[in-house]
Amino acid sequence: MNIHIMTLFPEMVMGGLNTSITGRAISKGILSIEAVNIRDYAFNKHNSVDDYPYGGGAGMLMQAEPVYQCYQAIVDKIHTQSDASSELCAEKRKPRVLYMSPQGKTFTQGMAEELAQEEELIFLCGHYEGIDERVLDEIVTDYVSIGDYVLTGGELPAMVMVDAVSRMVPGVLHNDVSAEFESFQDNLLEYPQYSRPEIWHEKQVPPVLLSGHHANIEKWRREQSVIRTAKNRPDLLEKANLTEEEKKLAKS
Ligand code: ADE
Repeated sequence: MNIHIMTLFPEMVMGGLNTSITGRAISKGILSIEAVNIRDYAFNKHNSVDDYPYGGGAGMLMQAEPVYQCYQAIVDKIHTQSDASSELCAEKRKPRVLYMSPQGKTFTQGMAEELAQEEELIFLCGHYEGIDERVLDEIVTDYVSIGDYVLTGGELPAMVMVDAVSRMVPGVLHNDVSAEFESFQDNLLEYPQYSRPEIWHEKQVPPVLLSGHHANIEKWRREQSVIRTAKNRPDLLEKANLTEEEKKLAKS
């Protein structure tokens, strides 16, 4: 998968994503992540990319043209590379462009899984008070928020999304995530986990986990997931597929 991040702060984004699991996936060539500096597409001698909003109001807006030129350069590069790698000259499909905005649809694990199927993704990070609406109308395919709060820019949301999407790309994690239970699968939160020692601060590991009895361990984990979801995220339970017994457990 090739990820392109349009930003005014490439070093902020790459510093984080070159680290740990995403960093290793980049080194192994499973992922390619590039941060493209929108300022490189400034068209005036001061290299500025922002201006006052028409009609007044606080702050500055990112102008349409540098954002558009930056986008166009990424799309041209994608098309050149796909032409070179395909004898049949791949169809010139437009890549998805995700604009990080508190006005977008809230990002979920389901969206991460869906986006992980794409070959190319472009993330657009705004800064200041936002971006001229006309370029957004022209290039953005998805408006995405990471939650109901306002950040100073789209860089942290883009890093959050790239992290969540990347780990769903086959080969990025050591284990196969689709075979593992994790939070949000079946609309349940993950069960508690324990490692050595068996007793820590006088707290004992639940005996069932030491029993070696796989069916009982599975049953206990499922019950813990139901209990934990009922306590912390009751909203999720409405969409979970629970047996009558589990519904009673959730209410208890
Ligand atoms: N930009 C500023 N705040 C944001 C948020 N909550 N989600 C996505 N992008 C943002």
